[in-house]
Amino acid sequence: MGYRVIVWATGAIGKTCLRAVLARPDLELAGLFVYSERKDGVDAGTIARSAPTGVLATRSRAQILAIEADLVIHTARLQVPYETHDDDIIALLRSGKNVITTAGNHYPQAHGAERARRFDQACREGNTTLYGVGMNPGFLLERMVLGLTGLCVELESVEVEELLDASTMPDPDFVFNVMGMGARTSDVDLSTGALAHLYDQLYSEAIQFFGDRTGVTFDSIESDHRVLPAERDLHVSAGTITMGSVAATEWRWHGIVDGARFVTLSVIWTMDPTMTIYQGRDHWSVEIHGKPDLHLTLNMSDPKDSPLKTRAGQYITAGPVMNAIDDVIAAPAGIFSPEVFAPYRRRQDA
Ligand SMILES: NC(=O)c1ccc[n+]([C@@H]2O[C@H](COP(=O)([O-])OP(=O)(O)OC[C@H]3O[C@@H](n4cnc5c(N)ncnc54)[C@H](OP(=O)(O)O)[C@@H]3O)[C@@H](O)[C@H]2O)c1
Repeated sequence: MGYRVIVWATGAIGKTCLRAVLARPDLELAGLFVYSERKDGVDAGTIARSAPTGVLATRSRAQILAIEADLVIHTARLQVPYETHDDDIIALLRSGKNVITTAGNHYPQAHGAERARRFDQACREGNTTLYGVGMNPGFLLERMVLGLTGLCVELESVEVEELLDASTMPDPDFVFNVMGMGARTSDVDLSTGALAHLYDQLYSEAIQFFGDRTGVTFDSIESDHRVLPAERDLHVSAGTITMGSVAATEWRWHGIVDGARFVTLSVIWTMDPTMTIYQGRDHWSVEIHGKPDLHLTLNMSDPKDSPLKTRAGQYITAGPVMNAIDDVIAAPAGIFSPEVFAPYRRRQDA
C-alpha cells in the first residue's frame, strides 16, 4: 500500500500539493486540515476542483492528530511571530507523522541549539522527520547554488537575487499583512519591525545552511532592506495599493566572513512589474565570483491552456515538496538535511 498523506492548509501551495497527492498512485489522501470556516467539512475533491475523494476537510487539530498517516504536507501561511506554527508542527511530529513544511523551518539549527533541540526531540518521540522546503528558502541557495559551487576551484563570494511579480497574489491578508505591501512607507520599520524580524529569521536559515556547507563561519548576517513606493494607484488581485504606499519590498542579507560579503541573498517582490528598475531582470540570477566566475539565470513560465489557476511559482514550490516525500519518510528520526554532493568547501589554513 502507498503512503498515507495529510495536507495541512489549502492556499495556493496547499492546493497544488493536494492535487499532486491525488494524482499520485503511490499516495493516499488520509486527511485535510483547513483554517477557513467556509472549507470546513468540504470534500477534498471539491477544494481541489476534482472528483470527490470521501476525505472531508476539518478545522479540528485533534481530529488530524488522531489520523494514522505517514506524512503531513504543511503549507500554513507564515505568521508573525515566526514561531506561530511551532506547536502544531511539534504535535504532528510527536504523533508519529513526518512533516514537510513550506512555512519555514528549513534549518532550525540557524537559530541556535535550543530551537533545533525542540524539533529534534519531537522527531525522536514520534520516530519522525521534519523537512522545511520550497524554492526559496529550500532549494535556491541550499541545493542549486550550493551545487554550482562544486564547479569552482576557488570561491570568493556569491550573489543571488529573486525577483517575483506578486501582483496576482489573491489573498489580502497575505499581501498586506505578511508581505507588507500597501503600508505607508514611513510606517515600515525595516530594522526592528515585526516583518523584518520574520523574514530575517526565515532567510537566515538558507544563508546559514549555505555557510555551514561551504565551511565558512559568519561574522554576522547583515540586513540591508528597502521598500519602494507605488508610482501610481495599483489595482492588484488582493486590492488597491495607493500611490506612495509600499509597492515593492527588497529584502537583502549579506553573510559576512572575515569582514567581507561572502553571500548576498536578495528577495524582491513587486506589485508593479512595470517599474522601470525591474525591467529586463530574470526571476532568479546567480553570480558566483571565484575560479571560474559563473553566471546563471533561471526563469519560469505559467502553464498554457490549463483549466487551473495554478501558476509556475506554485508548481516550483510544490515540486521540491512532492519530490522529497519518499526520502523524508525513509530518513532516520530528526531534522532532515538535504545533502548536495561535493560543494566547494573552504578549508582552514593548516
Ligand atoms: N519557500 C518557498 O519557496 C515558498 C514559496 C511560496 C510560499 N511559501 C510558503 O508556503 C506557505 C503557503 O503559501 P501559499 O502561497 O499557499 O499561501 P496562501 O495562499 O496565502 O495560503 C495559505 C493558507 O494558509 C491558511 N491560513 C489562513 N489563515 C491562517 C493563519 N492564521 N495561520 C496559518 N495559516 C492560515 C489558509 O488555509 P485554508 O484555505 O485551507 O483555510 C490559506 O489558504 C506560506 O507560509 C508561504 O510563506 C514558501
